[in-house]
Amino acid sequence: MTRINETSGGKNDEFSDIQAKNTVVINLSKDNPDPEKLEYCAEVIKRGGLVCFPTETVYGLGANAFDPAAVKNIFKAKGRPADNPLIVHIAGYDMLNLICRGGENQRNRISLLGKEYWPGPLTMIADRDPAVPDEVSCGLQTVGIRMPDNKIALELIRLSGVPIAAPSANLSGKPSPSKAEHVIKDLFGRVDVIIDGGDCRVGVESTVLDITGDIPAILRPGAVTLEDVIKVLGKGELPDWKKAPKKGETPRSPGMKYTHYSPDAEVRIYDGKDIGGVRSFIAKEAEKEAANGKKVGIFTTKEGAYAYDGKRFAVTCAGTRDDLLTVTHLLYGALRDFDKKGVDVVLAEAFPQTGVGNALMNRLYRAAGGCVIDIGDN
Ligand code: TXA
Ligand code: MG
Repeated sequence: MTRINETSGGKNDEFSDIQAKNTVVINLSKDNPDPEKLEYCAEVIKRGGLVCFPTETVYGLGANAFDPAAVKNIFKAKGRPADNPLIVHIAGYDMLNLICRGGENQRNRISLLGKEYWPGPLTMIADRDPAVPDEVSCGLQTVGIRMPDNKIALELIRLSGVPIAAPSANLSGKPSPSKAEHVIKDLFGRVDVIIDGGDCRVGVESTVLDITGDIPAILRPGAVTLEDVIKVLGKGELPDWKKAPKKGETPRSPGMKYTHYSPDAEVRIYDGKDIGGVRSFIAKEAEKEAANGKKVGIFTTKEGAYAYDGKRFAVTCAGTRDDLLTVTHLLYGALRDFDKKGVDVVLAEAFPQTGVGNALMNRLYRAAGGCVIDIGDN
């Protein structure tokens, strides 16, 4: 059993450990993480262990990116398909040279976008250096690179002295963790350390941008939007993520072919020209489901609260439609809460696919396994 011999003291003591099997949970302050505890976590990385850590997007499940055996253990701990490559996290541009072999064009793009968005919620896919093991890239000639905007994450990488390969710290197929309690629920007993560094600011995974082609392409929408990319690079595209790859075709981002982010409950999205009409439709659907003995959850915003019976249904009002970043931020927590409440079916309102609304709808769409009901003009 991994053990740290310190005990929790007063309210401000960062060190309240929970342990079972081999997992140690370490509380760290977001702004002022205890260097000794971080040093301990870095030691775990150096000796090939698994450390879950906060980033500004979601929690990551990290290992030394140069240690193939440690990287393999990430896949085991998550139950992740072996063909889904990992993002490599760096703390500074010195580490970029260890993992990226991209030529001048890619370097320029990294430097221009990095200046604007690193550290931050942007992963760039570039040509990989052979030093990056196959276990990380799953045989691709490219590597996903990200500098996270979180002091704990950056310090952990710096103290470990190596880039850290990390997928989101959830069991494969479950919604990504935006809070430490989500990580504990999924991975306690499967990893060496879980750092509790508070809630993640963004709450959904980074934008994945392929910078290897002529036109930079967003393979996974996130908080850095297509408009942001075009502003910096002068061009960019967001291929239709609803289109499933054709049979035999290799998807550009292997992860996007899996139904992701699903709660246990069935999720359905309702779309239509008039949001008032959509709400009336959902309210009727909710009645029908309840009549069939189902426990119903509804995903809306505060504008929609009037339309649903909060006493009969589990209604989540996630912020306001005027601020899609906040709705996005609250989505994964809401999906996990529906499961906690034993909801059987979640009826969700659709959101406009503009700016960060692309990230929101992309994740909702995957949670729903692609089930969108268009009610038309009603
Ligand atoms: O915000 C995030 O990106 C979080 C935090 C922990 O950094 N990480 C994360 O990792 O979401 P993961 O593994 O759950 O998602 C990574 C996505 C997958 O869809 C994967 O297929 C794609 O990035 N990806 C990774 N490397 C790639 C590559 N070389 N080419 C294309 N897609 C890649
Ligand atoms: Mg993931």
